[in-house]
Amino acid sequence: MSELKPRKDLLDIESLSLEEIEYIFENAAPFKQLFQRSVKKVPTLRGKTVLNLFYEPSTRTSSSFEVAASRMSADVTNFTVSSSSVVKGESLLDTIETLQAMRSDYIVIRHQAAGVPGIVAKHTNASVLNAGDGYHAHPTQALLDSMTFREVYPDYQGRKVVIVGDILHSRVARSTSMLFNKLGIEVGVLGPGSLVPEGRHDFMKRFHSWEDVFDWGPDAVYLLRVQLERQEGQFFPSIAEYHKMYGMHSERVARMRQLGAYLMHPGPVNRGVEITDEAMGYEKSLISTQVENGIAVRMAVLHWLKPETDKD
Ligand code: CP
Repeated sequence: MSELKPRKDLLDIESLSLEEIEYIFENAAPFKQLFQRSVKKVPTLRGKTVLNLFYEPSTRTSSSFEVAASRMSADVTNFTVSSSSVVKGESLLDTIETLQAMRSDYIVIRHQAAGVPGIVAKHTNASVLNAGDGYHAHPTQALLDSMTFREVYPDYQGRKVVIVGDILHSRVARSTSMLFNKLGIEVGVLGPGSLVPEGRHDFMKRFHSWEDVFDWGPDAVYLLRVQLERQEGQFFPSIAEYHKMYGMHSERVARMRQLGAYLMHPGPVNRGVEITDEAMGYEKSLISTQVENGIAVRMAVLHWLKPETDKD
């Protein structure tokens, strides 16, 4: 593996240079090859500790970080907020001080408020990895999405992806669209006017119907979950209406098949809302590959970051 100056934390996509992004992909590939072996472990992080700190629910990201750290021989602790002193009113900074005293080397944090991973990073010597903060960022999701797209399209520059759904509340849309744009991949968006913020990113092409999307000819369709838990108020008339206007079903899958377009989704999937059971079986779905690449990318990021707890 080649070398690049390490950083302490990974908080967002904006601050990553192209060189750093390429470095992560370059290192993720050999980690992925490791998954084919009967012994999937390397000693890279032996003696290091990784703390998984999730203030919001997660299946993929928390388990993916846990698997990634375990495959690198680190010791992993999962800090469950619902059974911690946080529910007794402990402040974030007091929690951080307690965690700092435990001398973890890496803290993986997901929080409902944007900016919390950055605050934690300032108050600890551990490397902090943002596993999703509010509407702000989900950098490792963007990295695994881009790795997956580049695997199927080695000639990825100038290719097109349309992101469909709840752009407004989605940290995934924010980070993934930004990384696609940095890599020279064109990004379009489709969704209800109430869920597609105007002018967030000038580089995103706005669509108002699937017809327009298919005329554009995307190389991949990236569906988002409708984040009902983040919506205060009614952003569209009903789930049935949403599905009819923006959901993926067999007729739209047939159009994707004609185009040869791939299907992506960060998970968790809401079947019957943004996608039908039938459409989930589309042969060009990359959803499982995204999950697999998530482990490889997170291993590459853990390999690259350097906590200030390191003395050498
Ligand atoms: N993609 C994603 O962040 O999924 P989880 O909420 O399950 O971690």
